[in-house]
Amino acid sequence: MALLTHTHTAGRYIRNCWYVASWSRDLIANRPEAMAIGEEPLVLFRDEAGKAVTLRDCCCHRNAPLSLGRCESGRLRCMYHGLVFDGTGKCVSIPGQQHVPASYQVRSYPTEEAGGWVWVWLGDPARADPQLIPPAAIAETAEWDLRMGKLDFEANYQLLNDNLCDFSHVAFVHEGTFAGGDRRIAETHPRITHIERGIRVERWLTERGAIEPWLGPEAAPRPDDTPGRHLDQWLTYDYLVPGLLAMRSEVHRAGTAKASNFNAPISAPLHAEFTRQAITPMTGSSSRYFFSMGPRASETQDQPALPDQMLAGAQHAFHEDRKILEAQQRNLERWPLETTSGVIRHDRGVHIFRSMIERLIADENTTLAPRDVRAG
Ligand code: FES
Ligand SMILES: [Fe+2]
Repeated sequence: MALLTHTHTAGRYIRNCWYVASWSRDLIANRPEAMAIGEEPLVLFRDEAGKAVTLRDCCCHRNAPLSLGRCESGRLRCMYHGLVFDGTGKCVSIPGQQHVPASYQVRSYPTEEAGGWVWVWLGDPARADPQLIPPAAIAETAEWDLRMGKLDFEANYQLLNDNLCDFSHVAFVHEGTFAGGDRRIAETHPRITHIERGIRVERWLTERGAIEPWLGPEAAPRPDDTPGRHLDQWLTYDYLVPGLLAMRSEVHRAGTAKASNFNAPISAPLHAEFTRQAITPMTGSSSRYFFSMGPRASETQDQPALPDQMLAGAQHAFHEDRKILEAQQRNLERWPLETTSGVIRHDRGVHIFRSMIERLIADENTTLAPRDVRAG
């Protein structure tokens, strides 16, 4: 099976879905932001009312990128010949003439803000229902004290999705960071279930040590514990189309996994953390990784630096992912027709999620009119 080649999906994207285009806080008034999603160059800005809007990053006069333009009171001026566009993409002013032809219009894209993110719908605007933004991807409660970041990868989005659908790589890619030298995440298997438009991955890592530097004294070994084997960790996440992760991780005393029958923990954790992440394809060989993470707000009262410390630790680990995924991308570009040897057991989540994406793309290609497929 050609599971890990990217050739059959590179340059192909689900169009009728919401993609994360930016953190809301990064889209500030009066500053156009260039972005690309699914190989479509976009410009995002805030209109007169402060609403996030998205236009094709191409002026309808002579194709200059609008992201090189200037925001003027919530309108965007192309800085080639000075045409001005409103948030719907309609041209509202042409220097040197009174008349603005109705044909002067740039394509706009449905844009929503939810969960701290700006979401853009690439496909048929008539189908852009904000209710289709997955609730798990925007869930935010006062329980967590989160910090956010982003990182660009010179790699196809499917390689990033693969990475997040199979955490066995943590043992090797993050040997000295997330794994703390413990290989058991690769030697054992999670429970993977199909859920609507995604997979759910659940697992216990039993009898491990306190490898995270921020685990407090309550997570230290007690006199009758075996040091380095006194904790159990519960990990559960949903990975959803088109590339959205919502994960909870909890640290408990060893024995909790067994007492919980290897299902969700029956007791309160010593430490818990949450992360939301989104992978957005920019081009066939570049992707933007958005992430937020942090501990329970109750844990930061004694340790106010904890959320920043956790973000810094994760960012370090994400650079480890980036190094290997970008190298993988370069190999795939060099030998695009090669296939891998076949699947291994840890590829199961990767395979389910890839199949889901490919089926959704194929469904769109058969149901969309040719005009829609071409023009998007
Ligand atoms: S190309 Fe934009 S105003 Fe001419
Ligand atoms: Fe990783």
